[in-house]
Amino acid sequence: MSRSAHPAGPRHADVMTEGHYTAPPADLNALDAKVWARTVTRDEGGALTVGGVEVTRLAEEFGTPAYFLDESDFRARCRAWADAFGRDADVFYAGKAFLSRAVVRWLKEEGLNLDVCSGGELTCALDAGMPAERIAFHGNNKTVGEIERAVTVGVGRIVLDSFQEIARVAHVAQRLGKRQRVQIRVTVGVEAHTHEFIATAHEDQKFGIALAGGQAAEAVRRALTLDGLELIGIHSHIGSQIFDMAGFEVSARRVVQLLAEVRDEHGVELPEIDLGGGLGIAYTSEDDPREPHEIAKALGDIVTRECEAAGLATPRISVEPGRAIVGPTAFTLYEVGTIKPLEGLRTYVSVDGGMSDNIRTALYDAEYSVVLASRTSDAEPMLVRVVGKHCESGDIVVKDAFLPSDLAPGDLIAVPATGAYCRSMASNYNHALRPPVVAVRDGEARVIVRRETEEDLLRLDVG
Ligand code: LLP
Repeated sequence: MSRSAHPAGPRHADVMTEGHYTAPPADLNALDAKVWARTVTRDEGGALTVGGVEVTRLAEEFGTPAYFLDESDFRARCRAWADAFGRDADVFYAGKAFLSRAVVRWLKEEGLNLDVCSGGELTCALDAGMPAERIAFHGNNKTVGEIERAVTVGVGRIVLDSFQEIARVAHVAQRLGKRQRVQIRVTVGVEAHTHEFIATAHEDQKFGIALAGGQAAEAVRRALTLDGLELIGIHSHIGSQIFDMAGFEVSARRVVQLLAEVRDEHGVELPEIDLGGGLGIAYTSEDDPREPHEIAKALGDIVTRECEAAGLATPRISVEPGRAIVGPTAFTLYEVGTIKPLEGLRTYVSVDGGMSDNIRTALYDAEYSVVLASRTSDAEPMLVRVVGKHCESGDIVVKDAFLPSDLAPGDLIAVPATGAYCRSMASNYNHALRPPVVAVRDGEARVIVRRETEEDLLRLDVG
């Protein structure tokens, strides 16, 4: 996932078989701005602070494990995306990365739209006041109930993912006396260079309708004939945690080709294309993500060029970044519980969370970094693996990292860039209580998603 280099491996390198770690950083206390939210720094005493609040205070008040989200950073990233894409394009935040009512309000205030992919996400969006016309509804198997609701409330677009869904949405819309704006999601046949489970534009997978073999052209043919549908464009999402713009380039080119075919066959120029999300972020210092303005320029140039070549007016572009907005804005704070040194191997540092608050390491082999957060230390670096408290040896949070060798139980450690797909994929494995999300801004910390309680767990258990 993350593209960390192979080990320089000064200590333990001879027995290290997986080779994921780099040399220890020159200064273990330093904070690499690439992976930390903007307001994160260390105060004079050495404790990590976010939004002007020390983590030691945050831990006392909110407990650990907990996610701390830098609200001003989140808003700044929203603005950077909105500004980069400007008036002729739309940015839809992908709610699956992390969604809560506060997040919806921030998005609304910062002028972003929202992509939801389930009835639950739709409920959250509407409940927090996102206007329905600013919502895009996704999913490869939306239920009829979800479709009915989306059409009834008037979502701005439904992204159609299959032939059955074209018929289903048309039928529901017609029954409700509506004409629903839709896009068709196509798979463009691009192999995105990312983990297999989060690559989505190759043909052998569940999402979308293949361009290959004329499938997508057939989908357009059907959608154009159905009264309940207003086909506004074509959608393509090629995968996640992507750094290389080449995949987007191929995808944009193929989508524009389809627009040209549609024009030739039907005399219709579809006015919009959506190039999905998937832009990579820095999880470790080795990752080099692009800035929104570079991405906007690259995508805009490709689409304009391809459209000119095909004699098409440039369509309105939309994108759906999730991780690139929320990912870098939050870190997870853990308390160290036990420390198990394995001579010649590494030191296992067990924290009070684990795969229930961050499944990404176990699921995608994701790489993270970690720092000692409650204080600084001048002790020698030691190679560590940060693990959770679950009954599973794959319960790893940070596979290979360096922490100071005087680390002790009770120390707080922080894992950056956990804003995306950590709380949203959190589980109750081993009846773990899902951690809170605390937004910090200008010296104030406020819970936006509270910690689960044992009563919450038992409330669902009605047997
Ligand atoms: N649009 C569509 C249609 C998507 O399916 C996704 C992600 C996005 C946008 C947002 O992608 P982003 O910009 O956040 O990468 N759980 C995985 C990621 C799964 C993403 C699924 N779809 C992870 O933790 O890496």
